[in-house]
Amino acid sequence: MKDNVYFDNAATTWPKPEAVYQFMDSFFRSHGVNPGRSGSLLAVEAEQMITQTRSMLAQFFNFSGASSRVVFTLNGTDALNMAIGGLVEPDDHMIITRLEHNAVLRTANHLERDKSIKVTRVAPEPNGYVDPEAIRKAIKPDTKLIVLNHASNVIGTVQPLAQVAQVARDAGIVLIVDSAQTAGVLPIDMDALDIGVLTFTGHKGLFGPMGIGGMIISERVDLKPLRFGGTGVDSISTYQPDAYPYRLEAGTVSVPGIAGLHAAQKWFRSLGEELAEQQGLSVGTAEQCRLALAHIHAVELAHIERIDAKLCEFDSVRIIGSPRDGARVATLSFTVKGMSTERIADQLDADHQVCARAGLQCAPLVHVDAGTVDAGGTIRLSPGYFTDEQDMQQLLDALDDILGET
Ligand SMILES: Cc1ncc(COP(=O)(O)O)c(C=O)c1O
Repeated sequence: MKDNVYFDNAATTWPKPEAVYQFMDSFFRSHGVNPGRSGSLLAVEAEQMITQTRSMLAQFFNFSGASSRVVFTLNGTDALNMAIGGLVEPDDHMIITRLEHNAVLRTANHLERDKSIKVTRVAPEPNGYVDPEAIRKAIKPDTKLIVLNHASNVIGTVQPLAQVAQVARDAGIVLIVDSAQTAGVLPIDMDALDIGVLTFTGHKGLFGPMGIGGMIISERVDLKPLRFGGTGVDSISTYQPDAYPYRLEAGTVSVPGIAGLHAAQKWFRSLGEELAEQQGLSVGTAEQCRLALAHIHAVELAHIERIDAKLCEFDSVRIIGSPRDGARVATLSFTVKGMSTERIADQLDADHQVCARAGLQCAPLVHVDAGTVDAGGTIRLSPGYFTDEQDMQQLLDALDDILGET
């Protein structure tokens, strides 16, 4: 039995590709200086690594605008706060869904309470998918933006992004996409979908470390800065510079965090190159990334489908939503009749060394709608790309053992 089998990749992916650990360590040792704050060779090279990372991310999300519009933030939550708060003005209306993470829900709640922003929270269908027409119907003359969680971090349903993007385009409303659960797993085409702001976090599917996130801002959208400070350029300017990324990046950026994203981006490309070679294909970088994503998604789906099938063997188990009926990522949530979620998580951990997540997973409205709040939420299982057969077997045996009693 392994000491730890990790089924909480929706919280953060772990482990990371070896190249990420190695490059973070070596770059931080060799270039742990403040980029853009001096003309020294080291500072210039650190800045170059950051600029290259912006370009790689722009390509990864098929964004043909200036790579200065790839802005780094502390994490996904920070990016969502900055994107939403940077767009709305008092009395504007915004649309979100009830599938959102607290990164969006609480941001919207505070804006509603403190800045008289009006918020409509669109409910998904019982299967966990949002109907784009429900979003269209929620649009009002003063609707300023739509925020969509691309995939639920509780039930794993992937929302119909292309159709929602079409609704936003038809109405001329900015769409913010929270890609926390899909970036690095599903291809996202900013240009084709004309996404207004794509927010991402570094520590999940993008295989970077904690403490780094970001957003890509379409050239037709401007965000007002919400925090102010040094940028290393235009220091004489009384106010925050208008130019991106400085407009939104006040203070020292996380060089180790960006180095991690940098190495991970290279890892995606080399995985894609390997896959292309195996298939006898000669493809460019963009196609390499697409191949890598399709492979990662397929590996993760195979795991989640086995977990799903195992859970379906027990009448006591209720899987929340119906991610099997449509697009999904490798995350599912369930409850068990007659057993508290806390007890199951404790047994998984203490008796079987399985790391899972019990509770509301920072997305309380999903649980309100599923009627799982009083039960203490759900057990969430989320295998990852590095989950191996031994991990799977240990989990499936653990489920047999624990649920066999029910
Ligand atoms: C859907 C979703 N949005 C936003 C976030 C917040 O990301 P971060 O942890 O990087 O702040 C998460 C993290 O769990 C998430 O799952």
